[in-house]
Amino acid sequence: MITCCIFDLDGVIVDTAKYHYLAWAALARELGFEFTPEQGEATKGVSRMASLDIVLRAGGLEERFTPEEKERLAAEKNARYLEYIGRMTADEVLPGVLPFLQELKARGVKVVLGSASKNAGVILDRCGLRPLFDHIVDGTLVSKAKPDPEVFAKGAELADEAPAACVVFEDAAAGIEAATRAGMRSVGVGGSPLLCKATMQLPTFEGFTLEMLRNQID
Ligand code: BG6
Ligand code: MG
Repeated sequence: MITCCIFDLDGVIVDTAKYHYLAWAALARELGFEFTPEQGEATKGVSRMASLDIVLRAGGLEERFTPEEKERLAAEKNARYLEYIGRMTADEVLPGVLPFLQELKARGVKVVLGSASKNAGVILDRCGLRPLFDHIVDGTLVSKAKPDPEVFAKGAELADEAPAACVVFEDAAAGIEAATRAGMRSVGVGGSPLLCKATMQLPTFEGFTLEMLRNQID
């Protein structure tokens, strides 16, 4: 039986994927090329530095910068991203997420964050969500990016739950693969065909309940 739900953050709980994209696209423009929303898809779930490599490759600039220059470019992107998320409010929590998290808490199911982002804490605080999480694993605590299972394995360990009792909610193919490699079932959130390997698909949390989850995957 599912007794622990592990949530990705960007694109699952809040629609920050759009802010990541806008910040990368602005950097690309400064470097002299367009970074399209389609190209932006590949940065979902991927660490900051790996995302930078994807952006630079899109502009044919992958060999152009030293590691120090790349750190500076990533910091520039992050400064822009922080401007966006610094203005976030609880209104930006995706529809249906809050009642679902509250139901999980009320019914004793553990709620864990499993995010690659180093900015997860800022977002949870801006949106007032931190008290709903029993454990938070973010990009400051893990060294291996999804699809490596480290982030979810660590979440289960902190929650003292077996992987088989955990389900991961993810909007990125790399995250679904990480869940599978951690021995967990997964819910592909948002309806992208790239999530076809998830145990089940969920277009939106609106109207979604623990009973529906257990009926579909337990
Ligand atoms: C993931 C996002 O949650 O976090 C990626 O899906 C992002 O797009 C990654 O690159 C790292 O985020 P941050 O906030 O540490 O730059
Ligand atoms: Mg995500």
